[in-house]
Amino acid sequence: MLYAGQTDPVLRLRGNGSEQLQPVEAVAAELRRPHRERPWVLVNMIGSVDGATDIDGHSGGLGSAADRELFRALRAVADLIVVGAGTVRAEDYGPPSTTDSIRSQRLDRGQAPDPRLVIVSSRLDLSPQARVFSDPDHRPLIATHQGAPSSRRSILDAVADVIDVGRDAVDLGAMLAHLHADGARVVVCEGGPTLNASLFGADLVDELCLTVAPIVVGGSSPRVVDGAGVIQLPFRLDRVFEEDSYLFLRYLRDRSAA
Ligand SMILES: NC(=O)c1ccc[n+]([C@@H]2O[C@H](COP(=O)([O-])OP(=O)(O)OC[C@H]3O[C@@H](n4cnc5c(N)ncnc54)[C@H](OP(=O)(O)O)[C@@H]3O)[C@@H](O)[C@H]2O)c1
Repeated sequence: MLYAGQTDPVLRLRGNGSEQLQPVEAVAAELRRPHRERPWVLVNMIGSVDGATDIDGHSGGLGSAADRELFRALRAVADLIVVGAGTVRAEDYGPPSTTDSIRSQRLDRGQAPDPRLVIVSSRLDLSPQARVFSDPDHRPLIATHQGAPSSRRSILDAVADVIDVGRDAVDLGAMLAHLHADGARVVVCEGGPTLNASLFGADLVDELCLTVAPIVVGGSSPRVVDGAGVIQLPFRLDRVFEEDSYLFLRYLRDRSAA
């Protein structure tokens, strides 16, 4: 049973009348409590029923209107959006923007009007002309390490705030502690699978929001967590939304056995 008194554990987003939900309000009402030394970390991903995370290198083909709405609802609770450089390149990420209504709800909660983007990169192989750097009012943060190429760093210094967290690789725990010290309480990580492997591998994820798209893709697309050794972290299901055969699953890290 997900919600007391609820006979059907699946909450239909815009289902059969009585249980209509507003995703932005429903997601904002969910509890996300930061740790003493780091923010709450939410990973948001979409996968096909057979586990693919992209179709021909892009995740867009897996989505739906409701998925995009949930995506915006999750971004709405984020102080920061963390994303791997591979996803920024593959998806041609833009600066985060939102609606006036979400901005005013964020301001009421004491958050900045828009979440800031944090790009995790080792090689700093990002063009300063990329769309993600196109708005000076939404200057991203780039988290890299001391061993990153200095020539690339000086190019990106013009369009982003570049910080070192780690000597030879990005120390994600240190990065999160730094962001927390700067005031971040909720971080939404939008992948991709390689960055997820580092985050889950260091057991830094509190919440996994997984959209299951009703599509069989086949092929050899990476899974949600790709490239790590076996990790085996228990999560428990907290809620399910459904629309048009898409499932929007919220899992919380189960630390009860720790
Ligand atoms: N289904 C979904 O919800 C979803 C979500 C996001 C992405 N995707 C898909 O996933 C694919 C991209 O994923 P990906 O796994 O290749 O890329 P990714 O995880 O977004 O980025 C990998 C890159 O991020 C940097 N990085 C990650 N972890 C790091 C660490 N611990 N330390 C230093 N740098 C780190 C490195 O950047 P540098 O190379 O710059 O050093 C690395 O090459 C695309 O096809 C995209 O469409 C799907």
